[in-house]
Parts: sequence; C-alpha cells; structure tokens
Amino acid sequence: MKFLVVNGPNINMLGIREPGIYGRDTYASLIAKIEDEAKRLGVDVECFQSNHEGALVDVIQNAYGRFDGIIINPAAYTHTSVAILDALKAVAIPAAEIHISDVSKREDFRQISYAGMACRWHFIGEGLDGYLHAMRVMKEELQ
Ligand code: DQA
Repeated sequence: MKFLVVNGPNINMLGIREPGIYGRDTYASLIAKIEDEAKRLGVDVECFQSNHEGALVDVIQNAYGRFDGIIINPAAYTHTSVAILDALKAVAIPAAEIHISDVSKREDFRQISYAGMACRWHFIGEGLDGYLHAMRVMKEELQ
C-alpha cells in the first residue's frame, strides 16, 4: 500500500509559524514521524510540500495509478481552491483531509473546505498526530 502525503503553503514553516496554534515541531520532524509510522505499518509513503497551488494540482494528478491513498493538508488553499478539489475528484484516489489546528473554532473564512468535499476522512485539530491517525485508519479501511 502506498500513500502520498501532500502539504500546502507555509506548512514548511512549522516550528517557526504561530507556535501557539501549530506547535514547536518542525516540518522535518513531521516528515520523520510520518516515515516512522509508515515503517511501523508496513506501508510506503511519499511526502510533498509546496507553496504553489498549481504544483499541488500537478502532484495530485501525477498520483493517478501510483498511490492507494492521499493524505492532504492543503493549508490556506483549503478555503479557496476549487482546482485542488477538482484534482482530487479527477484522480478519485481515497483521500483524507488534515488540519493541524481545529479550524472549526477559528475565523469565519476558515469554515469552508473545498478540498474536504473530495475527502472520505477528516482529521481536524489533532496536531501532527492527525497525519499518523489518518495513515492508521486508511491502512485499516483500504486493505
Ligand atoms: C491549516 C489550517 C488553515 O486554515 C491554515 O491556512 C493553514 C494550516 C492547519 O493545518 O491547521 O495553513 O490547514
């Protein structure tokens, strides 16, 4: 089983950006946790981060026929990007939406999730553990 983990803009700034909201763990430590969990579960994982909407669309399109599941935190593009929603629908790979923070308790403009409309699972406000939780649930439900 092969998972693609996709992170959107500013997730590379974890550890620096708004630590009161996103914590002090860095993006590198997130990737290390994901790779450890993949080993433990016996699944393959590839991680990708970009600050550019088109690059995120490209990586989702390129996942077609290559991955069994997508774990995606589109970050700010969650609330604006119909292109990412359409890409997820186009490839129709089972997908999980992740948000580190609990967006349901934040500003009004974070209350809409376009990408989430194409996701089967939602892990919101679980911190970095949300990514690992998604991997466990997806392995269990897709195998
Ligand atoms: C986020 C929530 C988004 O609203 C925000 O723009 C982010 C991160 C989260 O993981 O909590 O960049 O997706």
